Amino acid sequence: MAAAIRVAFTAHSSSSLTLFSLTPFFNNNFRSISIRRRRANPFLLSCSSRSMAHVIAKATLGLTHPAQIDHPKISFSAKETDLVEWKGDTLAVGVTEKDMAKDDNSKFQNPLLKKLDSQLGGLLSEVSVEEDFTGKTGQSTVIRIAGVGSKRVSLIGLGKGPNGSSTVAYRSLGESVASAAKSSQASNVAIALASSEGLTPESKLTTASAIAKGTLLGTYEDSRFKSESKKSALKSVDLFGFGAGPDLEKKLKYTEDVCTGVILAKELVNAPANVLTPEVLANEAELIAKTYSDVFTAKILDTEQCKELKMGSYLGVAAASTNPPKFIHLCYKPPSGPVKTKLALVGKGLTFDSGGYNIKTGPGCSIEMMKVDMGGSAAVLGAAKALGQIKPAGVEVHFIVAACENMISGTGMRPGDILTASNGKTIEVNNTDAEGRLTLADALVYACNQGVDKIVDLATLTGACIVALGPSVAGIFTPSDELSKEVVAASEVAGEKLWRLPMEESYWEQMKSGVADMVNTGGRQGGSITAALFLKQFVDEKVQWLHIDMAGPVWNDKKKAATGFAISTLVEWVVSNSSSS
Ligand code: BES
Ligand code: MN
Ligand code: ZN
Repeated sequence: MAAAIRVAFTAHSSSSLTLFSLTPFFNNNFRSISIRRRRANPFLLSCSSRSMAHVIAKATLGLTHPAQIDHPKISFSAKETDLVEWKGDTLAVGVTEKDMAKDDNSKFQNPLLKKLDSQLGGLLSEVSVEEDFTGKTGQSTVIRIAGVGSKRVSLIGLGKGPNGSSTVAYRSLGESVASAAKSSQASNVAIALASSEGLTPESKLTTASAIAKGTLLGTYEDSRFKSESKKSALKSVDLFGFGAGPDLEKKLKYTEDVCTGVILAKELVNAPANVLTPEVLANEAELIAKTYSDVFTAKILDTEQCKELKMGSYLGVAAASTNPPKFIHLCYKPPSGPVKTKLALVGKGLTFDSGGYNIKTGPGCSIEMMKVDMGGSAAVLGAAKALGQIKPAGVEVHFIVAACENMISGTGMRPGDILTASNGKTIEVNNTDAEGRLTLADALVYACNQGVDKIVDLATLTGACIVALGPSVAGIFTPSDELSKEVVAASEVAGEKLWRLPMEESYWEQMKSGVADMVNTGGRQGGSITAALFLKQFVDEKVQWLHIDMAGPVWNDKKKAATGFAISTLVEWVVSNSSSS
């Protein structure tokens, strides 16, 4: 039921306009998809028909099956009534440090805060002084009140206020609202900014979008593998001060579509490797194609078909596992009109990376975290799901994942083995733990064979990239200044952090082999750069290509959860290449 959602636009009175509400619905088409999916795929149980329970008989190691969980269904409405008159559970106001300034009589100067404070008999200024609330980023304060329209008023700090990274600040405002709503079990909240008058019409849209995104994703909690969990009761959000009308409706619908992709990616990354095998990942891709069959076709290649395509590099990595590899290829074509640009998104899809014979050992190797090694493929499939709903015109997009597991067994590749990739190049495997680039090699050759103009690949490729940029910033590598600009611009809109690193050709020296065309691992220094130089060997020079190393941002250590990194950037980039934008 959770997968089948309809976005309904309902116009209300002039004072308020419901932008969209998400309501579950059934039709025969969706029901048949859900049932087929349960048969094929024990992973994301989207249809809770108990009578169908017997069809997921295929045993998972450890007997774990994810529970069906509801995804957030929140309706966002633009309001233009007087905020002070609002009735509901929680009224949340985003305030900058400047907004908190007081006059000589210790009264707020900001008109909205002044009005609210007098309505509350001065409680707001009292509490903010008592709790030393100054509007710094991350600060928040809640007042429980009686006798006025809302049960609680919350001030949420926005720091110094709008600047270059305001998307990030407004998204965290949404997240704070979501967590406050959850702890007080609020079902309806209002969100406003103390000073929204200064916003341009365009920045009203992006701000409302960032707040909605934070609220939606902050409300989502992946409890599929927990036997108990506290759920959010949040159902509706009234947005004050962002205008109303079709542009805002469109923007919020787009935001919602992106969020469903982000949630899919989070679920794929959070799922452990005993549940999310290459086959289950392939089933998820097929499900996307079935759900948006007006724009997608899916092709899944098995070991034999990959052999025919001479993908020796990819198959070398897959050789040790009893879970067979699945090569995933989804193709998006716009519902109508000509195609002007052809793109490919290629994602590393290691459902588990043990390191192979060069097994990950020792403190800090994080072998127990290596279910995240399909983060690149999760970003690719998350973007596919979002784009299946957005349906941009004028672009064809290929979504490509060479999914497999890097394990250890008598059938696996040994250190020192020589693999032959599908472009004929030979690789001496001097380290079986540098496996991602081996799978990407054949995936990149395949992508180039689709006749695409531009390729973006995403991979949790190197620990070295985490050392260089830390946990929140992804490294990007490309010979093309133009493509770098495009993708960086998309990431800025999306509020995701990328940093370009050099493709220093002189470092290729480290990658030379005595017996083959190259080795797969250079020295410790510049490890992310030599990895990128390796990938370049498999990309047609006529194709613009950019590589994203997202080993850091794929996972949030504090939250112990996947981030859903890169989906927003990818969707934004594809849309910027479409003729819809
Ligand atoms: N999957 C790892 C990279 C990784 C590390 C991802 C930490 C997420 C968190 C990759 O396959 C790997 O093992 N890379 C090696 C390369 C080395 C052998 C050249 C690394 O970074 O140590
Ligand atoms: Mn590895
Ligand atoms: Zn890996």
